[in-house]
Amino acid sequence: MAEILREGNIWHLRNEWISYALCELPGGVAAHLYIGPRLEKLNPAGLLRHANAGTEDFSVQECALDRVPQEYPSFGLGDMREGALTVLAPDGSRAVDLRIVKAEVLDEKPALEGLPATRGEGCAALRLTLKDDHTGLEAELNYAVYDDCPAIARSARLVNRGAEPLTVERAFSLCLDMPDDDWDLITLSGAWARERTPYRRPLVPGFQGVYTQRGASSLQTSPFMALARRSADETKGEVLGLSLIYSGNFIARAEDTSTGGARLLMGVNDRDFTWRLAPGEAFQTPEVALVFSTEGIGGMSRGFHRLWGNHLLPKRWMGVDRPVLLNSWEAAYFDFDEAKLVSIAKAAADAGVSLFVMDDGWFGHRDDDTTSLGDWTADMRKLPGGLKGLGEKVRALGIQFGIWMEPEMVSPDSDLFRAHPDWCLHIPGREAITARHQLTLDLGREDVQEFVYKAVANTLRESGAAYLKWDMNRNFSNLGSAALPADRQGEAAHRYILGLYAVTDRLIRDFPDVLFEGCSSGGGRFDAGMLYYVPQFWCSDDTDALQRCEIQYGTTMVFPPSTMGCHVSAVPNHQTGRVTPMQTRFAVALGGCFGYELDPRKLSDGEREALRAQVAFAESTQKLRLYGDFYRLRSPFEGNYTAWMSVAPDRSEALFTFVRTRAVPNVLPPMVKLMGLDAGKRYEIVETGEVYGGDELMNAGLCLPGEFQSAGDGWSALYTLKAVNE
Ligand code: GLA
Repeated sequence: MAEILREGNIWHLRNEWISYALCELPGGVAAHLYIGPRLEKLNPAGLLRHANAGTEDFSVQECALDRVPQEYPSFGLGDMREGALTVLAPDGSRAVDLRIVKAEVLDEKPALEGLPATRGEGCAALRLTLKDDHTGLEAELNYAVYDDCPAIARSARLVNRGAEPLTVERAFSLCLDMPDDDWDLITLSGAWARERTPYRRPLVPGFQGVYTQRGASSLQTSPFMALARRSADETKGEVLGLSLIYSGNFIARAEDTSTGGARLLMGVNDRDFTWRLAPGEAFQTPEVALVFSTEGIGGMSRGFHRLWGNHLLPKRWMGVDRPVLLNSWEAAYFDFDEAKLVSIAKAAADAGVSLFVMDDGWFGHRDDDTTSLGDWTADMRKLPGGLKGLGEKVRALGIQFGIWMEPEMVSPDSDLFRAHPDWCLHIPGREAITARHQLTLDLGREDVQEFVYKAVANTLRESGAAYLKWDMNRNFSNLGSAALPADRQGEAAHRYILGLYAVTDRLIRDFPDVLFEGCSSGGGRFDAGMLYYVPQFWCSDDTDALQRCEIQYGTTMVFPPSTMGCHVSAVPNHQTGRVTPMQTRFAVALGGCFGYELDPRKLSDGEREALRAQVAFAESTQKLRLYGDFYRLRSPFEGNYTAWMSVAPDRSEALFTFVRTRAVPNVLPPMVKLMGLDAGKRYEIVETGEVYGGDELMNAGLCLPGEFQSAGDGWSALYTLKAVNE
């Protein structure tokens, strides 16, 4: 059970696995004490003396704050490090001196106004209120600890209690001062078609970290960082992960301080950010989830998976079977009409697929990507029966119909742009910069939010779609909003994200049974913010099975398989030109929400037959694959093999996947040590009929068959394990 203990001036949040402690120093500064494995009791003297270079002088007057570990520091009054908060006061000064004025253990974790955050059921919550007397600024620091996972949530809410307006120039979600710097830093970075590669390096003095100023959490990096003990690996050692529940510009930075501590900062990127706070107004920062594991990087990942599964991902879709879908993009691109789509859908239905998705190209006069975004009416040249007619024809095949939209965008060649040129992000007098021939609608505006809501709602109603792929295919430029005065332009990027959340929230409430899948040129906005609203996200535009091993491996650092859209595509692969065996494309796509991205009419009879068996297998293993405990066994970044497995919570069954990148002759077949099984149980490998003990499979390993030697590049094995009584 989660609990919050108060002993004098110390607050101690803890559950079965972890403790988080902070205290009020003489004078009211909020100091950080500890995050790590659960403690029974805590005497802060040692921790504070250590952090404060052996002295007990915590006075603000002596610049002692420069060494004190703090919960929400700012720059300018003695702490020389980067702070979490910068506020411009009417007198032109920027220093803020926050002291604790109130501490409350709350009955329930408060929701974050306008922002996604972990749900509060089954957790204990603390709120500290700090105040700066000079400006009247108040900061509420919110903390939560959960009953059921090794995680803490933190966020901050700023309120102007003064008489004059203030300008917030930086409002990070947290500062976390770690008492030592004996850590490696892990972040995720990538690019289009190569999302979320893990990078690990030692913390060294100075700044390290990741950021985006693209307007979205981005293909290039992820709002995540982790500290891992230098000796920690996938299975053992201390790892602390931080994930920001936000989809826009963020920054995550670690500073190895000169005295040997480490300061972590995370929040909305302060680049081109300001927020005006009139007296009485509040600014809410996004929430950061912190997961602490003593079971290595894999333990951290499972901590996040459990946290998101129990407290963040939409309840409507958790534990629920997702339809096996076929998406038309790589099957037809822009080149289709109703007859072609219906015949693809029929072939899909014959193979057992239960949802056909029409991708880009159905609206306006869009025959390529240069036109029509914003004009969300069916192109009658292609779809003479409109969306209604196509939807009905697809449903008549006994399967569901789904549709693609890119609601946040407008093409310069569109009726929408001609009618409302000021609805896009732009800087008056400057030439608009297009990307993929399109401009970004200013979702911070209420009239734009209303338009987007209606466009999506009408499309869903007209088509009767059971699924919506919500795409977003460019980053911000010309960041400016016609709805904001000059001195508030710094609010545009964050207001955009708040608008996006507001529209998405309204849509999922009004269409609770429509399955939304997020997409942003693949996985360009794959973050915990969007996953509060949409249960799954298109992992990457790269459908090559070997590339996907890397992308899916990195994605599972933070997100569970149930969040990843993974499809089997045709060969030669459209992104890499590589040819991999159908069985391997199938095995890899089983790593998430399974589907197809190909034209089934072009398959051979044998392949179509195989599809039927694949769909049946994907469906029968759904619960295990999507919601089981997930273990990474071999990293594609460290060798020729990738392996992972999902284990049922009661450890009665498991699914093991192995992919070998290159054929190498004359090497021993690998023994892969499995994880998460019951050491005392016997398991039958259904595909081979062999039976092994759980202890054997975890300690000696599972031996891959000899045939693998000469089986060619991209060979894979998929084994189902079932506990048996022998
Ligand atoms: C993006 C998506 C693709 C596809 C195209 C359509 O690139 O990531 O899956 O939907 O847009 O234009």
